[in-house]
Parts: sequence; C-alpha cells; structure tokens
Amino acid sequence: MGTFFGSSIGRKFMMGASGLFLIIFLIVHLSINLCLLVPDGGETFNIAANFMALPLIKFGLQPVLALGFIVHIVYAAILTAQNNKARGNAKYSSGNNTKEVMWASKNMGILGIVVLAFLTVHVYDYFVPLQITGTAPEVHGTHMHDTYTLVKNNLQNPVKAILYIIGCLGLALHLTHGFWSAFQTVGLNNGIWRKRWTIIGTIFAWAVSLGFCVIVVAMLLS
Ligand code: HEM
Repeated sequence: MGTFFGSSIGRKFMMGASGLFLIIFLIVHLSINLCLLVPDGGETFNIAANFMALPLIKFGLQPVLALGFIVHIVYAAILTAQNNKARGNAKYSSGNNTKEVMWASKNMGILGIVVLAFLTVHVYDYFVPLQITGTAPEVHGTHMHDTYTLVKNNLQNPVKAILYIIGCLGLALHLTHGFWSAFQTVGLNNGIWRKRWTIIGTIFAWAVSLGFCVIVVAMLLS
C-alpha cells in the first residue's frame, strides 16, 4: 500500500480522487450560495449556512475537507516537480486538442496557484470572523450568524468583487483540465468517454464558475 501511494500512478490517483472530492464540495458550496440570490433579505441563505455550521457537520466535515485540499496540493507539487524533471523542455501532450483544454492542461500549476491565492483570501474573509474571532454579525435577537450580511459587506467592495471573479475564472480553467483528468486517472475515462468527459467537464467548469460569478455581481449590486 505504501509503495502504491509513493508510485507515479498512486500519486496521480490521489490527485484525481482528491480532485473529485473537491468537485463534490464545490457543488454543495455553490448550491448553498445560490440561496444568496433568494430575494428575502438573506433569510434562506442564513438558515442553510447556519445548518452547515452545526457542530456535528462542521467538526465532522471540516477536517475531511481540509485533508482533501492538503492531499490535492501536496501531490500536485510532487507531480509537477516530477514531471518537470522528466519532461525537460518537451511540450505537454494531453490527447485532447481543443485550444482551451490544451491551454489549461499546460498551465495547471499557475491556475492552481491562482485558485490557492483566492482560497487564502476567501478563508480569511469568512473562516476568521465566523470561527476564530467571532466578529461576524448575528441575526437580530438570535444566536445565529448573519452570514448573508457578512458576504454582502465583503462583496460590496468592488476590489474584493473583482478578486473573487478572477479567482472563479481561474477555477473555471483549472476545472476544464481537472475534471476529465480526474476521471481518466481513476479509470472512468477511456475510448469514447474520454471526449465526452472533456465536453461534460468544460460545461461543468464554466457552469460552476459562472454560477459563483453571478452571485458576486448580484451581491455587489444589491
Ligand atoms: C461567490 C463566491 C463565494 C462566496 C460568496 C462564498 C461564501 C463562503 C462563505 C460564506 C463561507 C463560510 C461558510 C461558513 O463557515 O458558514 C465559505 C467557506 C468556504 N468556501 Fe466559499 N464562497 C464562494 C466561492 C468559493 C469558491 C469558488 C471556493 C473554492 C474554490 C470556495 C471555497 C470555500 C472553502 C474551502 C470554505 C471553507 C469551508 C469551511 O470551513 O467550512 N468558496 N464560502
């Protein structure tokens, strides 16, 4: 088992499996965030966000989520170093030849760094006031966090909104490669399905990322 995780194929498997886990997280996160668009002053979103913050969910899922990110980032760094050493100046060849997918495939490292930089700012914006300093506003007369107002105050700053949009566009390009690559690595992507997953992955990547962008613009203009 130890040799599997240390082998080249084992490392790629860990990247793919952790990537698929993070994709599931993104779907859940976007679904909850879409409640921000309900025109009820944030009532629906606050209920959803506070439900996700219940101790059983928070303390059960947060360490798993953190582990998913750590595995993904650590194995990405190892694989990139390993590939650069093996490939030298040779060109990347993915077998997928749409321009966007090829560009993303060659630039996964830089796209990963854009997403990571965004995530660092993002976790600072929410994790710190909600879970460390306790400075997040509360829904009047309750002990529930007013996460809606926290998000609104944050995204009504145009600089922050632009930063979030750049992060989400970086995420779209990262996912156009990551999605099919993850399916390929875990063995669900051969023959005819390779092309299908590339198309499904591109649609998924842009749908998720533009979904987040719509929320940012809606909060900026609210
Ligand atoms: C419109 C864009 C987004 C908004 C408004 C938003 C909002 C939030 C909020 C309010 C939280 C705190 C949840 C809580 O603890 O109650 C959060 C956490 C988080 N978000 Fe986002 N998010 C956005 C986009 C993203 C994207 C694109 C990613 C991933 C690339 C992401 C990754 C995370 C992570 C990892 C956490 C920490 C989860 C936890 O500790 O429970 N978010 N987000």
